[in-house]
Amino acid sequence: MSVPRLHTARPLTAHPAAPLSGTVAVPGDKSISHRALMLSALAIGRTRIAGLLEGEDVLRTASAMRFLGAHIERGDDGIWAVSGVGIGGLAEPEDVLDMGNSGTAARLLSGLLATHPIVSVMTGDASLRRRPMARVIAPLTTMGAQFFTREGGRLPMAVRGTAQAMLIEYRMPIASAQVKSAILLAALNARGTSRIHEPVPTRDHTENMLRHFGADLHVEPDGAGRIITLTGQPELLAADIVVPGDPSSAAFPLVAALLTEGSRVTVTGVGLNPLRTGLFTALRAMGARLTIAHERIEGGETVGDITAESGPLSAADTPPELAPSMIDEFPILAVACAFARGTSRLRGLAELRVKESDRLAATAALLEGAGVRTAIEGDDLLIYGGAGRPEGGFTATTHMDHRLAMSALVLGTAAEKPVRVDDAAFIDTSFPGFAALMTQLGGRFE
Ligand code: S3P
Repeated sequence: MSVPRLHTARPLTAHPAAPLSGTVAVPGDKSISHRALMLSALAIGRTRIAGLLEGEDVLRTASAMRFLGAHIERGDDGIWAVSGVGIGGLAEPEDVLDMGNSGTAARLLSGLLATHPIVSVMTGDASLRRRPMARVIAPLTTMGAQFFTREGGRLPMAVRGTAQAMLIEYRMPIASAQVKSAILLAALNARGTSRIHEPVPTRDHTENMLRHFGADLHVEPDGAGRIITLTGQPELLAADIVVPGDPSSAAFPLVAALLTEGSRVTVTGVGLNPLRTGLFTALRAMGARLTIAHERIEGGETVGDITAESGPLSAADTPPELAPSMIDEFPILAVACAFARGTSRLRGLAELRVKESDRLAATAALLEGAGVRTAIEGDDLLIYGGAGRPEGGFTATTHMDHRLAMSALVLGTAAEKPVRVDDAAFIDTSFPGFAALMTQLGGRFE
């Protein structure tokens, strides 16, 4: 796999916009797209995937699964076809697996590699090489895999998977869908029943898709959390997938419409899995005018069309239990809070420190740059709104983080003065075409 080490920064400026209006669709869900490629690569037969996110993160997963022996091709109609190798059938990759900017790709793939008797080496870009892998290495080691990492459990790392995986009963110390999914993917090739206890429910796309491919998987409530039981070594059978629009991407044009006076924007076909829609719940509690129409089931997931209309917002106070269902949306929610009346408190954000950047510090810095006062108290972010529209008129540092870049550009769209981001290139990891879509709605980017 070629490793593009030379990165050219692409600055981009968002100017204050006239009202935004129109109806758009956003690219496919990133979480579901990674899982669709990984699980279809393990299934017997040919799976067709419609609506796959063709962002850099997901293309890294496609490339890695090809290296591991799956046959993957994209048709001219945009449908991806994957012929899988069967559980236990992954081949030793000839070269380093470069997962780019994607923590999800790296963590989930670690699970697959852990229970295949092959040796592989994984790396990523400077952002991913800073992120902790110990959270997946600890449980996967108890299943029999060996990992060799840099200091602090960082990439690059080598993995020697085991031929005889041990079963696992794991109580998750943190709420993380990536960790849960890595263990489930590893447990697929362990003979017998494995069990995971999660303290707070996190996105359940892996569970849903495992069932879709025919795995024997059960979920039961356990206090505030869940217990997931999976029987290993099932025969997964190819099953077509329709990927819904990514709610985490829809968040950006929708919040831009809420904040830009006179706007009305609809995003169609957005995934509405309840473990992903915490942002919409939080925005509604702030008085946001958000409506959902045409709710329907497509490819096993609930989707709907979401319309946002601008209007005044009151401050947010989000409880820590809601954090997993909006974990990627805090930067854009914080931007909304900057326009709201009163002091917002977003609680339980410890995990933001280990995202593509230290998103807790970087989100606070973004708002401060725009002239909005913030404070970090423990794991909470406080935003002192109420001074009217934030001023803007600065350059935001995006720290190789796509969601910070898009949040900054939404801020610039609705603020008094333009906001420039130092590097918008990373937006392509999750939302290729973001600037064009915003421009179509009336945004002014240059
Ligand atoms: C993801 C889980 C979340 C999220 C990430 C995607 C997934 O990470 O932030 O963007 O697809 O499983 P954590 O599991 O680290 O919370």
